[in-house]
Amino acid sequence: MKDYIIELNNLTFKYSDGTKAINNLNLKIERGKKISFLGINGAGKSTLFLHLNGILKPTKGEIIFNKVPLKYSHKELKKIRQKVGIVFQDPDTQLFSANVYQEVSFGAMNLNLEKAEVKRRVDKALEDTNVFDFKDKPTHFLSYGQKKRVSIADILVMEPEVVILDEPTSSLDPKHSAMIEELLNDINKTGTTLLLSTHDIDFAYSWSDYIFILKNGELVGEGTPEEVFENDHWIEAGAIEKPLVFEVYKALKAKELINDDIIPRNKKQLLKLIGT
Ligand SMILES: Nc1ncnc2c1ncn2[C@@H]1O[C@H](COP(=O)(O)OP(=O)(O)OP(=O)(O)O)[C@@H](O)[C@H]1O
Ligand SMILES: [Mg+2]
Repeated sequence: MKDYIIELNNLTFKYSDGTKAINNLNLKIERGKKISFLGINGAGKSTLFLHLNGILKPTKGEIIFNKVPLKYSHKELKKIRQKVGIVFQDPDTQLFSANVYQEVSFGAMNLNLEKAEVKRRVDKALEDTNVFDFKDKPTHFLSYGQKKRVSIADILVMEPEVVILDEPTSSLDPKHSAMIEELLNDINKTGTTLLLSTHDIDFAYSWSDYIFILKNGELVGEGTPEEVFENDHWIEAGAIEKPLVFEVYKALKAKELINDDIIPRNKKQLLKLIGT
């Protein structure tokens, strides 16, 4: 039987201006997996994420975490926020401390850990996200991509069971995108469940164990990357693109230039198939 860490039951959310951003959503998140949410602007990805640690409260429906429905008392919210950490889409909404070191240590200090453990975690998070060199710099002087990495360190330092990243690689240069991808894989190997949203279809295709496609706050399709991108109906309904590697593989196969049945997930695997 599959082990689900988060389940959504009939989740519906209306903003105060009447916008129905999430519409009767039902889905289950498997523990320990790398999961991507795809969908065009306004599909409801960020709104959904803000529900998963109780920042937003459903208008209707419920969120089940580790088999228990989320509750919204101050005490329960504090607990869930230690277990489910969210890296916001816009780092400016997340960062509030004077400098980078203070910013990243804030979360760890709130966990009542030993001083030495706080230092160990903060140093590790700063190193892992490659922001250690400007640990004394005021956060508001950082570039957008640097802020984004500090906002990731902010959450990693808490070592939550679930890490949610809203468009983690947007605005990162290729070197830092690759670094964050590697970091996410390392965290996942320790058992952490990872959820992210992205408009980078190629990244989602190569990285994810499982993909959900949203549109107008509703689930359009879900499955492994191969299952999702094989389904033209879902791709069209979600108004998303297909990954380049996937399309090139299909074109080569249709022309009988390759006959391998294992679909490549990244450029390296595709080039190997072609024999280069
Ligand atoms: N604070 C708000 N008040 C009113 N409507 C909102 C608010 N925030 C988001 N919305 C609306 O809710 C819907 C879902 O928005 P959301 O930000 O969740 O989408 P998204 O999938 O994260 O999009 P993007 O890819 O642009 O980040 C949109 O129609 C948006 O206009
Ligand atoms: Mg968003």
